[in-house]
Amino acid sequence: MKKRTKILLIAAFVVLVLAGIGYVYLFCGGRVTDATNEVTAGEEGTDSLVVYFTRSDVIKTDGVDAVSSASLNQTDSGLVGNTEIPARIIQELTGADLYAIKTERYYRSPFMGTAATAWIEESFDMRPALAAKPDDLDKYDVIYVGYPIWWFNAPMAVGTFLESYDLSGKKIVPFCTSQDNGIDVSMDYIREVCGDAEILEGLRIYDNTASEEQIRSWLTQNGLLEE
Ligand SMILES: Cc1cc2nc3c(=O)[nH]c(=O)nc-3n(C[C@H](O)[C@H](O)[C@H](O)COP(=O)(O)O)c2cc1C
Repeated sequence: MKKRTKILLIAAFVVLVLAGIGYVYLFCGGRVTDATNEVTAGEEGTDSLVVYFTRSDVIKTDGVDAVSSASLNQTDSGLVGNTEIPARIIQELTGADLYAIKTERYYRSPFMGTAATAWIEESFDMRPALAAKPDDLDKYDVIYVGYPIWWFNAPMAVGTFLESYDLSGKKIVPFCTSQDNGIDVSMDYIREVCGDAEILEGLRIYDNTASEEQIRSWLTQNGLLEE
């Protein structure tokens, strides 16, 4: 093959790859419109907050079949992602406020669409823009941070959220849901984005199997709930 033809083929390949990346990233979905800066209030005077990120909040779920989609759970209040289940249990047990992290743009709904964008974000250590976030976290001493494992790490949007606050002096309590990996795969990242905060022992839950008993026992061991 002539040198010129080779160069042209390589150039075409590079353009195709870049176009693919651009397509997945730039056109990953419309703007998320149901985000708010307000937390859902827990018990009056609480000094704890549960923040969580779940895929079902950042994909368009209209027409998505909950039965065939591994991480969407049909409940009385609609489709709920796996990580929202332990987030709500923690809120109920501790009386904490609750907040869902949402990206500015939707991820593509098919698994491969979400996975491609998430892979690019993880590979380039990106911080996807958020649709909203509370003005400050000053009143909280304890912040529970929940997320699914994406590509052997926490989703990069969790970093966007945590890095936008001064967390020094706060206790961060991570929890995750995943299919295979333990929470350890995400801990370097969580430590990196939490600055000077104290990080307590995390909990990993298999997919949508969180139970009150499991969460109660973990909280008690961490000294966050009385026996
Ligand atoms: C883009 C993507 C990447 C994932 N990567 C991993 C992984 O590296 N390790 C793992 O154990 N599970 C992985 N999973 C599975 C999810 O962590 C698991 O199903 C989780 O419970 C989903 O929670 P959610 O419904 O709150 O989003 C991945 C799922 C998605 C969508």
